[in-house]
Amino acid sequence: MDLNERPRRNRRTPAIRAMARETRLDAGQLIYPLFVHDDAADVPLESLPGQTRWSLDGLVAEAGRALALGVDKVVVFPKIDDALKSRKGKEATNDAGLVPQAVRALKAAHPGLCVITDVALDPYSSDGHDGVVNDTGEVDNDASVRRLVLQAVCHAKAGADLVSPSDMMDGRVGAIREALDDAGFTGVGILSYTAKYASAYYGPFRGALDSAPRSDAAYDVPADKSTYQMDPANVREALREVEADEDEGADMVMVKPAGPYLDVVRAVREHTQLPVAAYQVSGEYLMIKAAAQSGWVDEKAVVMESLLGIRRAGADVILTYFAPQVAAWLKEG
Ligand code: PBG
Repeated sequence: MDLNERPRRNRRTPAIRAMARETRLDAGQLIYPLFVHDDAADVPLESLPGQTRWSLDGLVAEAGRALALGVDKVVVFPKIDDALKSRKGKEATNDAGLVPQAVRALKAAHPGLCVITDVALDPYSSDGHDGVVNDTGEVDNDASVRRLVLQAVCHAKAGADLVSPSDMMDGRVGAIREALDDAGFTGVGILSYTAKYASAYYGPFRGALDSAPRSDAAYDVPADKSTYQMDPANVREALREVEADEDEGADMVMVKPAGPYLDVVRAVREHTQLPVAAYQVSGEYLMIKAAAQSGWVDEKAVVMESLLGIRRAGADVILTYFAPQVAAWLKEG
């Protein structure tokens, strides 16, 4: 054939393909979510095969293993004992609580590690909500923000590099920024869960932390999080959240989940100059793991392709339970 254009020429050899490659993945673009509990044992998680609910010592060791592979950012999620849960999630602001202990231990052992904390009440809430449920059965925005602000300052005092509000209350980023600044933590950043959807893909995470909404209280407890997390049908609304977070002083914005929301990642990327993060959540992880266990897909290839797709959509950084595994694969080449 007499063709002027032969796109296959740019795919002919590995060296040529490397030249034509538009998107890359490296360990510095990954954030590793880690689970911790107040127990001396490291407990493998049934809902997340390959992931563990760590003791404090186990957490420090696992972060060290990740760091040695080049994963230098972690986000910590606590499993709180039922006895410490309450309606207002008071334990969330305890300076001697599990998260402050974990942050101090991680920073002491690994000063170069970037430690990020989750700001939301669900692990501490007897109702399993990210905010405070009031007597009329609503998740009370302003009462919740008052608690979240204290939680963020508590994490900053312990040495967190960034706090990451995942609660989706209105106005929380601005309120947290002001409280951090007033407390002298002008250098502590805010990685905001800007467009967090009311997603069924969080199921295995809620199993890992026993943090799903519960309806056994004497008052009405909303059965799901759809009055604050976003409707999966919406993308313009995500941009409205981006604008609010920018005005309020967010340092980075996040889209969550990632894989089923690549159009949102792209739209957010084009709407802001801030770094964009995307969270490959527990259900996305589990689906790949389960598919790989069936033997019908190649785990490494599918994981890499899923993360490359999230990067190609416009994410600068990806939260993924695969982080250390991916870093190891990248080293192997
Ligand atoms: C809660 C929180 C959730 C996740 C991160 N922070 C669950 C939820 O909103 O119910 C989910 C992460 C995952 O599924 O991997 N503040």
